[in-house]
Amino acid sequence: MRLILLGPPGAGKGTHAQVLSKNWNIAHISTGDMLRDALRAATPLGLKAKEYMEKGGLVPDEIVIALVRERLSKGDAKKGFLLDGFPRTSQQAESLDETLKDLTMPIDLVLYFKTSLAVIIRRLSGRRVCSKCGKTYHLVNFKPKIQGICDACGADLMQRSDDREDVIENRLKAYEKQTEPLIDYYKKKKVLAEVSGDLEVPELSEELEKLFAKKGLGAQVGSKNKK
Ligand code: AP5
Repeated sequence: MRLILLGPPGAGKGTHAQVLSKNWNIAHISTGDMLRDALRAATPLGLKAKEYMEKGGLVPDEIVIALVRERLSKGDAKKGFLLDGFPRTSQQAESLDETLKDLTMPIDLVLYFKTSLAVIIRRLSGRRVCSKCGKTYHLVNFKPKIQGICDACGADLMQRSDDREDVIENRLKAYEKQTEPLIDYYKKKKVLAEVSGDLEVPELSEELEKLFAKKGLGAQVGSKNKK
Protein backbone atom coordinates (compact mmCIF):
# COMPACT_ATOMS: atom_id res chain seq x y z
CA MET A 1 0.00 0.00 0.00
CA ARG A 2 1.31 3.46 -0.94
CA LEU A 3 -0.21 6.41 0.87
CA ILE A 4 0.23 10.14 1.30
CA LEU A 5 -1.00 11.78 4.51
CA LEU A 6 -1.99 15.37 3.88
CA GLY A 7 -3.26 17.84 6.45
CA PRO A 8 -2.44 20.80 8.67
CA PRO A 9 0.10 20.74 11.51
CA GLY A 10 -1.35 18.85 14.46
CA ALA A 11 -3.90 16.93 12.37
CA GLY A 12 -2.50 13.64 13.67
CA LYS A 13 -0.55 12.63 10.55
CA GLY A 14 2.48 11.46 12.52
CA THR A 15 0.35 9.66 15.12
CA HIS A 16 -1.63 7.71 12.52
CA ALA A 17 1.45 7.15 10.37
CA GLN A 18 3.03 5.24 13.27
CA VAL A 19 -0.07 3.06 13.69
CA LEU A 20 -0.50 2.41 9.96
CA SER A 21 3.13 1.63 9.24
CA LYS A 22 3.11 -0.94 12.04
CA ASN A 23 -0.27 -2.49 11.15
CA TRP A 24 0.42 -2.67 7.43
CA ASN A 25 4.15 -3.25 7.61
CA ILE A 26 5.02 -0.33 5.34
CA ALA A 27 7.78 2.27 5.53
CA HIS A 28 6.95 5.50 7.40
CA ILE A 29 8.65 8.34 5.54
CA SER A 30 8.33 11.62 7.45
CA THR A 31 10.22 14.60 6.06
CA GLY A 32 9.77 16.42 9.40
CA ASP A 33 11.45 13.51 11.26
CA MET A 34 14.22 13.26 8.66
CA LEU A 35 14.94 16.98 8.93
CA ARG A 36 14.87 16.90 12.75
CA ASP A 37 17.31 13.93 12.71
CA ALA A 38 19.65 15.90 10.44
CA LEU A 39 19.32 18.88 12.76
CA ARG A 40 20.13 16.80 15.87
CA ALA A 41 23.17 15.37 14.07
CA ALA A 42 24.16 18.93 13.04
CA THR A 43 24.76 17.89 9.42
CA PRO A 44 25.08 20.71 6.84
CA LEU A 45 21.57 19.82 5.64
CA GLY A 46 20.22 19.97 9.21
CA LEU A 47 21.81 23.34 9.87
CA LYS A 48 20.38 24.73 6.63
CA ALA A 49 16.90 23.35 7.43
CA LYS A 50 17.03 24.84 10.96
CA GLU A 51 16.78 28.41 9.61
CA TYR A 52 13.39 27.63 8.09
CA MET A 53 11.99 25.18 10.64
CA GLU A 54 12.59 27.49 13.60
CA LYS A 55 10.46 30.17 12.00
CA GLY A 56 7.74 27.78 10.86
CA GLY A 57 8.47 28.21 7.15
CA LEU A 58 9.00 25.44 4.63
CA VAL A 59 12.48 24.11 3.89
CA PRO A 60 13.40 24.74 0.20
CA ASP A 61 11.89 22.29 -2.26
CA GLU A 62 15.21 21.06 -3.70
CA ILE A 63 16.38 19.89 -0.24
CA VAL A 64 13.29 17.86 0.66
CA ILE A 65 12.76 16.55 -2.87
CA ALA A 66 16.29 15.09 -2.91
CA LEU A 67 15.77 13.59 0.58
CA VAL A 68 12.54 11.85 -0.40
CA ARG A 69 13.82 10.67 -3.77
CA GLU A 70 16.76 8.96 -2.09
CA ARG A 71 14.58 7.47 0.64
CA LEU A 72 12.04 6.05 -1.82
CA SER A 73 14.75 4.26 -3.75
CA LYS A 74 15.66 2.17 -0.66
CA GLY A 75 14.57 -1.47 -0.61
CA ASP A 76 12.01 -1.25 2.20
CA ALA A 77 9.88 1.28 0.27
CA LYS A 78 9.16 -1.40 -2.32
CA LYS A 79 6.84 -3.29 0.05
CA GLY A 80 4.78 -0.09 0.49
CA PHE A 81 5.19 3.31 2.12
CA LEU A 82 3.44 6.16 3.72
CA LEU A 83 4.54 9.75 3.10
CA ASP A 84 3.93 11.96 6.15
CA GLY A 85 4.44 15.71 5.56
CA PHE A 86 5.45 15.36 1.91
CA PRO A 87 4.57 16.71 -0.61
CA ARG A 88 3.82 20.17 0.73
CA THR A 89 4.10 22.35 -2.39
CA SER A 90 3.04 21.98 -6.02
CA GLN A 91 6.66 21.55 -7.04
CA GLN A 92 7.13 18.73 -4.51
CA ALA A 93 3.93 17.04 -5.75
CA GLU A 94 4.99 17.23 -9.40
CA SER A 95 8.45 15.95 -8.63
CA LEU A 96 6.97 13.09 -6.60
CA ASP A 97 4.80 12.12 -9.57
CA GLU A 98 7.93 11.86 -11.71
CA THR A 99 9.89 9.88 -9.11
CA LEU A 100 7.06 7.39 -8.59
CA LYS A 101 6.59 7.02 -12.34
CA ASP A 102 10.30 6.21 -12.70
CA LEU A 103 10.03 3.68 -9.87
CA THR A 104 6.68 2.31 -11.17
CA MET A 105 5.15 2.74 -7.73
CA PRO A 106 1.91 4.75 -8.14
CA ILE A 107 0.13 6.22 -5.13
CA ASP A 108 -2.97 4.28 -4.03
CA LEU A 109 -4.55 6.93 -1.84
CA VAL A 110 -4.02 10.44 -0.47
CA LEU A 111 -5.63 10.79 2.95
CA TYR A 112 -6.63 14.36 3.69
CA PHE A 113 -7.00 14.90 7.45
CA LYS A 114 -9.52 17.76 7.62
CA THR A 115 -9.08 19.28 11.07
CA SER A 116 -10.63 22.25 12.91
CA LEU A 117 -8.45 25.10 14.15
CA ALA A 118 -9.44 24.63 17.81
CA VAL A 119 -8.30 20.98 17.67
CA ILE A 120 -5.04 21.91 15.94
CA ILE A 121 -4.16 24.45 18.63
CA ARG A 122 -5.05 22.04 21.48
CA ARG A 123 -2.99 19.23 19.91
CA LEU A 124 0.11 21.31 19.20
CA SER A 125 0.20 23.16 22.50
CA GLY A 126 -0.12 19.89 24.45
CA ARG A 127 2.31 17.83 22.36
CA ARG A 128 5.48 16.58 24.01
CA VAL A 129 8.16 14.51 22.26
CA CYS A 130 10.95 12.33 23.53
CA SER A 131 14.31 14.11 23.30
CA LYS A 132 16.00 10.81 22.38
CA CYS A 133 13.72 8.52 20.34
CA GLY A 134 11.20 11.12 19.12
CA LYS A 135 8.09 9.25 20.38
CA THR A 136 5.10 11.62 20.59
CA TYR A 137 2.87 12.21 23.64
CA HIS A 138 0.19 14.67 24.64
CA LEU A 139 -0.32 16.33 28.03
CA VAL A 140 -4.01 15.36 28.04
CA ASN A 141 -4.63 12.75 25.30
CA PHE A 142 -1.55 10.52 25.49
CA LYS A 143 0.21 10.89 28.82
CA PRO A 144 3.39 8.97 29.54
CA LYS A 145 3.28 6.57 32.53
CA ILE A 146 5.68 8.82 34.43
CA GLN A 147 5.25 12.55 33.90
CA GLY A 148 7.95 14.03 31.64
CA ILE A 149 9.60 10.66 30.91
CA CYS A 150 9.41 8.60 27.71
CA ASP A 151 7.74 5.18 28.23
CA ALA A 152 9.82 3.67 25.42
CA CYS A 153 13.36 4.76 26.29
CA GLY A 154 13.26 6.64 29.62
CA ALA A 155 14.62 9.92 28.23
CA ASP A 156 13.16 13.35 29.05
CA LEU A 157 10.17 14.67 27.14
CA MET A 158 10.32 18.17 25.66
CA GLN A 159 8.21 20.58 23.69
CA ARG A 160 9.08 20.87 20.00
CA SER A 161 10.63 24.30 19.39
CA ASP A 162 8.19 24.92 16.52
CA ASP A 163 5.18 24.29 18.81
CA ARG A 164 5.51 27.80 20.29
CA GLU A 165 2.48 30.00 19.64
CA ASP A 166 4.19 32.47 17.26
CA VAL A 167 5.77 29.67 15.21
CA ILE A 168 2.48 27.72 15.04
CA GLU A 169 0.91 30.78 13.42
CA ASN A 170 3.57 30.80 10.67
CA ARG A 171 3.26 27.05 10.12
CA LEU A 172 -0.50 27.43 9.64
CA LYS A 173 0.04 30.27 7.17
CA ALA A 174 2.57 28.19 5.21
CA TYR A 175 0.12 25.29 5.18
CA GLU A 176 -2.77 27.43 3.89
CA LYS A 177 -0.72 29.12 1.20
CA GLN A 178 1.54 26.34 -0.05
CA THR A 179 0.03 22.98 0.95
CA GLU A 180 -3.75 23.40 0.87
CA PRO A 181 -3.79 23.71 -2.96
CA LEU A 182 -2.63 20.08 -3.09
CA ILE A 183 -6.11 19.00 -1.95
CA ASP A 184 -7.45 20.02 -5.38
CA TYR A 185 -4.38 18.63 -7.13
CA TYR A 186 -5.08 15.15 -5.78
CA LYS A 187 -8.87 15.51 -6.07
CA LYS A 188 -8.40 16.00 -9.81
CA LYS A 189 -6.27 12.85 -9.94
CA LYS A 190 -9.13 11.00 -8.15
CA VAL A 191 -6.92 9.63 -5.41
CA LEU A 192 -8.04 11.89 -2.54
CA ALA A 193 -10.08 10.63 0.42
CA GLU A 194 -11.15 13.08 3.11
CA VAL A 195 -11.24 11.92 6.74
CA SER A 196 -11.86 13.83 9.95
CA GLY A 197 -8.64 14.67 11.80
CA ASP A 198 -10.84 15.80 14.72
CA LEU A 199 -11.73 12.21 15.58
CA GLU A 200 -9.99 10.41 18.43
CA VAL A 201 -7.28 7.94 17.40
CA PRO A 202 -9.28 4.65 17.79
CA GLU A 203 -12.28 6.06 15.88
CA LEU A 204 -10.18 7.39 13.02
CA SER A 205 -8.14 4.17 12.87
CA GLU A 206 -11.40 2.25 12.43
CA GLU A 207 -12.56 4.66 9.70
CA LEU A 208 -9.26 4.22 7.87
CA GLU A 209 -9.41 0.44 7.97
CA LYS A 210 -12.99 0.57 6.57
CA LEU A 211 -11.83 2.95 3.85
CA PHE A 212 -8.94 0.68 2.83
CA ALA A 213 -11.30 -2.30 2.66
CA LYS A 214 -13.77 -0.29 0.55
CA LYS A 215 -10.98 0.71 -1.84
CA GLY A 216 -9.82 -2.90 -2.04
CA LEU A 217 -6.38 -1.97 -0.78
CA GLY A 218 -6.13 -4.86 1.66
CA ALA A 219 -5.78 -7.31 -1.19
CA GLN A 220 -2.58 -5.63 -2.34
CA VAL A 221 -0.84 -6.18 0.94
CA GLY A 222 -0.03 -9.79 1.55
CA SER A 223 2.14 -8.78 4.47
CA LYS A 224 -0.43 -7.11 6.72
CA ASN A 225 0.89 -7.55 10.20
CA LYS A 226 -1.50 -6.70 13.01
CA LYS A 227 0.74 -7.82 15.85
P1 AP5 B 1 6.43 18.19 10.35
O1 AP5 B 1 7.17 17.48 11.40
O2 AP5 B 1 6.00 17.46 9.13
O3 AP5 B 1 5.25 18.95 11.05
P2 AP5 B 1 3.72 19.24 10.61
O4 AP5 B 1 3.30 18.86 9.25
O5 AP5 B 1 3.54 20.66 10.95
O6 AP5 B 1 2.95 18.24 11.37
P3 AP5 B 1 3.03 17.96 12.89
O7 AP5 B 1 4.13 16.99 13.16
O8 AP5 B 1 3.04 19.22 13.70
O9 AP5 B 1 1.60 17.36 13.14
P4 AP5 B 1 0.99 15.92 12.92
O10 AP5 B 1 -0.15 16.06 11.98
O11 AP5 B 1 2.03 14.90 12.58
O12 AP5 B 1 0.40 15.69 14.36
P5 AP5 B 1 0.81 14.64 15.50
O13 AP5 B 1 0.41 13.28 15.07
O14 AP5 B 1 2.19 14.85 15.98
O15 AP5 B 1 7.32 19.42 9.81
C1 AP5 B 1 8.01 20.30 10.68
C2 AP5 B 1 8.77 21.33 9.85
O16 AP5 B 1 9.73 20.66 8.97
C3 AP5 B 1 7.92 22.18 8.89
O17 AP5 B 1 7.37 23.30 9.54
C4 AP5 B 1 8.96 22.56 7.81
O18 AP5 B 1 9.78 23.61 8.22
C5 AP5 B 1 9.82 21.30 7.69
N1 AP5 B 1 9.31 20.38 6.67
C6 AP5 B 1 8.85 19.11 6.87
N2 AP5 B 1 8.46 18.56 5.71
C7 AP5 B 1 8.68 19.49 4.74
C8 AP5 B 1 8.45 19.52 3.34
N3 AP5 B 1 7.90 18.48 2.68
N4 AP5 B 1 8.78 20.65 2.67
C9 AP5 B 1 9.34 21.70 3.29
N5 AP5 B 1 9.56 21.73 4.61
C10 AP5 B 1 9.23 20.64 5.35
O19 AP5 B 1 -0.23 15.08 16.63
C11 AP5 B 1 -0.11 16.29 17.35
C12 AP5 B 1 -0.46 16.06 18.84
O20 AP5 B 1 -1.83 15.68 18.95
C13 AP5 B 1 0.34 14.94 19.49
O21 AP5 B 1 0.63 15.34 20.80
C14 AP5 B 1 -0.59 13.72 19.47
O22 AP5 B 1 -0.34 12.89 20.56
C15 AP5 B 1 -1.96 14.36 19.55
N6 AP5 B 1 -2.95 13.68 18.71
C16 AP5 B 1 -2.77 13.33 17.42
N7 AP5 B 1 -3.87 12.76 16.92
C17 AP5 B 1 -4.79 12.76 17.92
C18 AP5 B 1 -6.14 12.34 18.01
N8 AP5 B 1 -6.76 11.80 16.97
N9 AP5 B 1 -6.79 12.50 19.16
C19 AP5 B 1 -6.16 13.07 20.21
N10 AP5 B 1 -4.90 13.52 20.19
C20 AP5 B 1 -4.20 13.37 19.06
